Amino acid sequence: MRTATAVAHPNIALVKYWGKRDVARNLPAVPSLSLTLDRFTTTTTVSPADRDEVVLGGAPAPDDEAGRVLGLLDRLAPDRPRVRVVSANNFPSAAGLASSASAFAALALAGAAALRRPLDRVALSVLARQGSGSACRSLWGGFVEWRMGERDDGADSHGVPVAPADHWDVRMVVGVVSSAKKAVGSTTGMTRARTSPYWPAWEATAAADVAEARAAVLARDLERLGAVMERSTFKMHATTSTAASPFLYWQANTVACVQAVWSLRERGVPAWVTMDAGPNVKVLCAPDAADAVSAAMAPYAERTIALAPGGEPTVELA
Ligand code: PMV
Repeated sequence: MRTATAVAHPNIALVKYWGKRDVARNLPAVPSLSLTLDRFTTTTTVSPADRDEVVLGGAPAPDDEAGRVLGLLDRLAPDRPRVRVVSANNFPSAAGLASSASAFAALALAGAAALRRPLDRVALSVLARQGSGSACRSLWGGFVEWRMGERDDGADSHGVPVAPADHWDVRMVVGVVSSAKKAVGSTTGMTRARTSPYWPAWEATAAADVAEARAAVLARDLERLGAVMERSTFKMHATTSTAASPFLYWQANTVACVQAVWSLRERGVPAWVTMDAGPNVKVLCAPDAADAVSAAMAPYAERTIALAPGGEPTVELA
């Protein structure tokens, strides 16, 4: 083997992945569509070593996280030699963005190059998906769709690029309501949400939302994209609050940010909200509206960060 270093960006789902039809393989119950973000990156180096070692953000990884990382490399090359994996984000975890998407995309790319497994981007997306579902979308820049696929082995469940980063200059403004670790992880949340009586409606309407979002992206129609993005997020969160044992990712300031963005929109600034498995609010808007959106959320957020569409991941050999 040899040493390889990959760099990948996180992504935010505009139409959410929420629900697994196969938990072990990370196969989704619904399709999704995301925007890859610029500036923020995970950089991961895989190199030969005497014993397996995983270093995340400068510190030895806890056993469960090291197991997930090494497990992905085992899938790639069951007979692999021992490796050292060093991974770090250039964005603080306090940024409130899930880093598992960029992390597993970078790991798949660096691992395949280091272990001399020449996989195409679709195969890398399939691999990254098994580390974290949303990671399969970070193998491309810009706007990316995750097709559910039909096969039991998941070989047809991967990202598909819809439009590159330079197709459309939009902003995603992140309102960091809390940087604390989420109380209910995404896998647990998806399992619990399945008990909601609204779950069948969630599953039944997702494909139409993805089709609507794809058309809006291709037409560069911000209002159409914002509207379907908000519908998707509120349907997702409706399944948590109506689960057999209800739970909510939002905090009081999450709702305050949503209301602030909506009142801004009523005053003529086009901006739409989305939330994931945590309390932070991400707002889709035009570049010239980003300052107004940040100012509207500032009273309720620890910080705000405006991000543009990001590009492709990269890999280099040492
Ligand atoms: O990739 P995971 O397993 O962390 O799940 C991500 C789930 C959401 O962020 C809520 C939605 C999404 O599509 O990214």
